[in-house]
Amino acid sequence: MARVDSTPTVMPASSGKPAPVVELQTIWKTYGLGRKNDSVRVDALRGVSLSVGQGEYTAIVGPSGSGKSTLMHIIGCLDTPTSGTYLINGEDASDLSEQDLAEIRNIRIGFVFQQFNLLASLNAWRNVELPLSYAGVPASKRRTRAMEALEKVGLTNRASHKPGEMSGGQQQRVAVARALVNNPSLILADEPTGNLDSVSTTDMLNLFGSLSKEGRTIILITHDSDVAATAHRVVQVRDGMITSDTMNLTDGSTSFEVPLSSSVGRARRSANNQDLVGDTLPGGVRSAGAEVQS
Ligand SMILES: Nc1ncnc2c1ncn2[C@@H]1O[C@H](COP(=O)(O)OP(=O)(O)OP(=O)(O)O)[C@@H](O)[C@H]1O
Ligand SMILES: [Mg+2]
Repeated sequence: MARVDSTPTVMPASSGKPAPVVELQTIWKTYGLGRKNDSVRVDALRGVSLSVGQGEYTAIVGPSGSGKSTLMHIIGCLDTPTSGTYLINGEDASDLSEQDLAEIRNIRIGFVFQQFNLLASLNAWRNVELPLSYAGVPASKRRTRAMEALEKVGLTNRASHKPGEMSGGQQQRVAVARALVNNPSLILADEPTGNLDSVSTTDMLNLFGSLSKEGRTIILITHDSDVAATAHRVVQVRDGMITSDTMNLTDGSTSFEVPLSSSVGRARRSANNQDLVGDTLPGGVRSAGAEVQS
């Protein structure tokens, strides 16, 4: 594969529409394979199918241990499934070389984690420029681009501060600036507000909202139903399976995306919740409005 573009436009020949940004087909992930003791094996994902289109803002929710981070690691090409197919922008991830995958992780995807993962010895703009140096951007351009990213998250005045000299909310904004510096089309955030107070959480959600309006695809993992309510779509994971997939409509009403088989489905939007499609989900779970359980 040639250079990875941050805004790829792979078109399936049949439809003429852009391929989904993320398409998981019956993904299984089993940890502990190859160990003699069967009891250490964990089926973290059990046949997950999920399609996310360009510009969608999706929250993934579910109890601790349900497989959310495992799912994100696969979507972010940080880990590989045990079985099933993962298409990223229409390309089968299993066909890509390690170098291609590293380039996708650095250029096409921006990662944000609960723990910020900033280098304590570097100030804010030095932290933000790191992905640019991995991408081979010349030093002369790196500072300008890092400062632009810091401006976007409202932190120009903290550019020379080290992480230890900033609040949790500011550190997370530095982490978001670092995730944005290569202008990725897909943002993956695993509990980005997990260590933030309510004011910083609101700031962070406003930031994700504006990134979404720019047309970036956002997949955000959260335990917090208020955080999930700000996304366009809420996918619930339980015991390694998707148990519901709900659209949040902008007028505050809700509708469902109900799986047709295992967890693949089509969204049907309804302004008044009347046009619901088969409200019983696989495993006998019954969908219940915009309910989000964590
Ligand atoms: N490297 C690993 N080796 C073995 N088991 C693992 C590994 N990583 C995760 N697991 C197991 O896989 C399951 C799913 O873990 P995962 O981290 O995806 O859950 P999660 O939904 O992100 O949980 P949390 O909300 O607590 O972060 C859990 O049972 C966990 O113990
Ligand atoms: Mg997790």
